[in-house]
Order: sequence, then C-alpha cells, then structure tokens
Amino acid sequence: MQPTPQPIADILEFARWAPSGDNTQPWRFEILDEHHLIIHAFDTRDHCIYDLDGHPSQIALGALLETLAIAASAHGLMAEFRRIPDSPDTHPNYFVKLIPDSHLPLDTLLPYIKQRTVQRRPMRTTPLNASQKLALQIAVGKFYTVHWFEGGTQRWQLAKLMFDNAKLRLTLPEAYLVHRDIIQWNARYSEDKVPDQALGVDKMTLKLMNWIMASWRRVDFFNTYLAGHLVPRLEMDLLPGLFCAAHFVLLAHKAPETIDDYVAAGRAVQRFWLTATSLSLQLQPEMTPLIFSRYVREERAFSRLPGATETAANLGARLSRLLQNDAVGQAVFLGRIGNGRSATSRSLRLSVGQLVSAK
Ligand SMILES: Cc1cc2nc3c(=O)[nH]c(=O)nc-3n(C[C@H](O)[C@H](O)[C@H](O)COP(=O)(O)O)c2cc1C
Repeated sequence: MQPTPQPIADILEFARWAPSGDNTQPWRFEILDEHHLIIHAFDTRDHCIYDLDGHPSQIALGALLETLAIAASAHGLMAEFRRIPDSPDTHPNYFVKLIPDSHLPLDTLLPYIKQRTVQRRPMRTTPLNASQKLALQIAVGKFYTVHWFEGGTQRWQLAKLMFDNAKLRLTLPEAYLVHRDIIQWNARYSEDKVPDQALGVDKMTLKLMNWIMASWRRVDFFNTYLAGHLVPRLEMDLLPGLFCAAHFVLLAHKAPETIDDYVAAGRAVQRFWLTATSLSLQLQPEMTPLIFSRYVREERAFSRLPGATETAANLGARLSRLLQNDAVGQAVFLGRIGNGRSATSRSLRLSVGQLVSAK
C-alpha cells in the first residue's frame, strides 16, 4: 500500500481520536491526494439497538469532521466538507477538501484532541462556575443551548432516571448482544472496543459480569432471580449520577431531522467536549434515555421483552418533565460533567493505516 501523503497523515492521526458510540469508529478514509480525501462513513443501525436511525453514528461523524477541521488548522488548511448526495444515509460519503489559507488561526482546541476521554467513574460534586458554563455555551455555538441539571435534587433525579434506565438496558435481550460484542474483557485499553476497566465498576463486579455475560441464559437467570443488574446499575449509573457537578443536555434550537442536522450537532458536541477537557473537566455521555424515548415517541417497537415499551414510555415522560418545556425532541446530547481525575483505562483507536481503505 502507498504511504499516506503529508499533511493528511498527520491530520488523520489527530482526527481518528474523535469519539464514537461504543468506540465503533464508523468511518474509513480514502486518500485522493495531499489535499483531498473521501470519508466513507457507515452506521450500525442494522445490529445495534442504540444506533436508532444511525443518529448516534451521525453525531460521531460530526465529531470526526470537527476534529479533522481542528487538526487541519495546525497546517494552515481550511477543511471543507461536502456530503456526496447519492450516498445512502447508512453509508454516507464525504468529500473533504483541504484549502491552504494563510490567515487561518490555529484552533486552540488542538492540544485537547488526544487528551479528551470519557470518564464513567464518580467525579467531584463541586459545581461548575459561571465562566466554565459560559465557555461551554460559547463552544456549542448559537444554534444550541446547554441546559444544566444542577444541585442535589436535580442530580438525584437524573441519577435515579439513569438507574431506572439501566434496568431496561441491562434486561433487554437486544442490548445484551451489543454489550457482549463491544466490551473487551480483562483490558485497560482497546483499539476497537470499550475495555471493561473503563466501564466504571470494581474488579469483583467485573469478574461476575464477565462470567454472567458469557450467555443470555445466564444474564436472564441472574436478572430474574438474583437482581443481577442491581450492583452494576449502582456502580455504573446511580453513584456516578450523584457524583458529578451537573448533568447537561444540548438542545438544538430546531429539532434535528436530517443526517446533516445530526452531523452538525456532532460538531457542536465535540467542541463542547474538547472545551470541557481544556477546562480540566471530565465528561460522560448518557445517551440511552434519549434513544429509548425516541423509540416510544415514534411508536416503534424495539424489544421482545414484555413491558419494555411501557418502561421506556415512563422514562421518557420523566425526562420530559425534567426538561420542563418538553424539549426532548430537540435534545441531541445528554451527559454528566465535573471535576475529577481523568480515566486510567480508555478506548484507543485503529491506526491510520487500518482506517485508510483500499477503495
Ligand atoms: C454519539 C455518542 C454516544 C455515546 N454514548 C455513550 C453513553 O451513552 N454512555 C457512555 O458511557 N459513553 C457513551 N459514549 C462514549 C463512547 O463510548 C466513547 O467516546 C468511546 O468509547 C471512545 O472512548 P473515548 O471517548 O474515551 O476516546 C458516546 C459517544 C458518542 C460519540
């Protein structure tokens, strides 16, 4: 294979650190020459219950484009993206042009691209100050508003919502298949999955989870007779939900509809996350309540588990009430944030060589 020409090799070396749901990295790159490439993106909606209509993958794709643009600025190159119109939404292709621009300033978020990582463990409860919140609002730009859930009562309400949401997540047979495939066991790092040590649970719980998750029959048995989901939910949802500075939701001023809307939202999400990193703040996305509530709003069946729709409807109603103005349809990203140590276990990425497709 031909070596990747500079400066694209350097730009992709940074861009590949963009976050994606379950570290799926749903993109491959085709280099045309030193100023042009094609991004071959894809989503996982055909097998991943969380990738509803491919929207989470599209948000990740937006994060990739933003990261690529930031990395290009270090070379005095302005990145221009054009979605190739006849490529299907499940496999959208983007034509990328890197245009020399001697006036382009270096994007100040560049140093945080490789440092940014998800923190799923408890954080400190020290509230964010006004200037941190302002910086985060500025980061998402004028088409999005950051709505904060702060203080003991609201953190408790969100923690409880996540705890109840996790019971649904951990008892759905369809979600089991996803969890089984994306966790790398006995690992601190993983190039294309989520290492178990980054899940935020202690060693004993991990051991038990590893053993139980070897088969759906075990999962079902433990959940049914021994409340097997209880300890993981406490460690992965309730405690982290309580121990953070705040939960937040990014609201698009106009409810997203098209792939371009979700990609644009992903660009804002990545600026938000990188800005949080620049402020030494830790962050964890909490996307699944948004996804389940959308299944319910659109009256789409998502599981063979009896009662799943009713449970999701209840969670969705609680989320709507928390948002007060019933803006769930405008919510593009939900998460928690706070001060604290950054994760000691994290997902890595496929190498540029692996991500450059032979097309
Ligand atoms: C669109 C999107 C949705 C995500 N949803 C969740 C989530 O619900 N819970 C979670 O713990 N992490 C979530 N993540 C974080 C990813 O799992 C994480 O970014 C990925 O594994 C790579 O790890 P890194 O961010 O530490 O580099 C999400 C990330 C993206 C981009």
